[in-house]
Amino acid sequence: MRTPVVIGNWKMQGTLADARALAAGVRDGVRRLKDVHVGLCPPFTALAAVGEIVAGSPVKLGAQNCHWEDAGAHTGEISLPMLADLKCTYVLVGHSERRREMRETDDWINLKVRAALRHHVSPVLCVGETGDERRQGLTFTTVEGQLRSGLAGVPAEEVGRVLLAYEPVWAIGTGVNATPAQAAEVHGYLRGLLSELASKEIASTVPILYGGSVKADNAQALAAESEIDGMLVGGASLQAPGFVSIVKQAAHRVAPARSK
Ligand code: 13P
Repeated sequence: MRTPVVIGNWKMQGTLADARALAAGVRDGVRRLKDVHVGLCPPFTALAAVGEIVAGSPVKLGAQNCHWEDAGAHTGEISLPMLADLKCTYVLVGHSERRREMRETDDWINLKVRAALRHHVSPVLCVGETGDERRQGLTFTTVEGQLRSGLAGVPAEEVGRVLLAYEPVWAIGTGVNATPAQAAEVHGYLRGLLSELASKEIASTVPILYGGSVKADNAQALAAESEIDGMLVGGASLQAPGFVSIVKQAAHRVAPARSK
């Protein structure tokens, strides 16, 4: 079974003092847990401070975005060598908020995925359909397009170093999460595509996280699905006790009893 991964995406929230307190709370709360990977993606201004707080603990650092060039005249951007220098393990790529607000294109997202792999930072490639796309029956078409373009030109053996996050846009920040069955259906579809793009063996190792209104009170049902390998958590990652509870539930995933 794949080790669950739970990543907190703090988005554009909090001061440096807030970030320090939250990181320390998460670090202390998950200290005794085994068989789960935990990541925190603070705003760029807090990356170094959070990195110091979680250093030597099982909690890994992640960034919310990156540029694909190593350096240069790109005002306001942050490069992969900068993130690697801070010992970032993860970088979110193609989050729907960036696709929508910053007009990030599939081509840029692909460049970012490949740059992250070059610098040994694991890209967490985010895909997901809007509410309209789901209503029109375009869920699979949408996520397939995002996955294929995100991984274009990535050699099969490198696909195993990518993480995927299925984040239906209609579930982000709305309080309406995808049901475990809805998420598992899309995750299974994504894993089938990964088998085609790489191999069945490689696809079976790729963590596919669910994101969108994950909370302490729905995490257990989501984590119990064998196709859901963890969560990418927004709002509920901003309070240490709630986030730690989600991590614990992912670590102790229990498969649901299924009627035949
Ligand atoms: P919420 O958990 O606040 O819905 O956000 C999900 C998300 O976008 C994580 O990247």
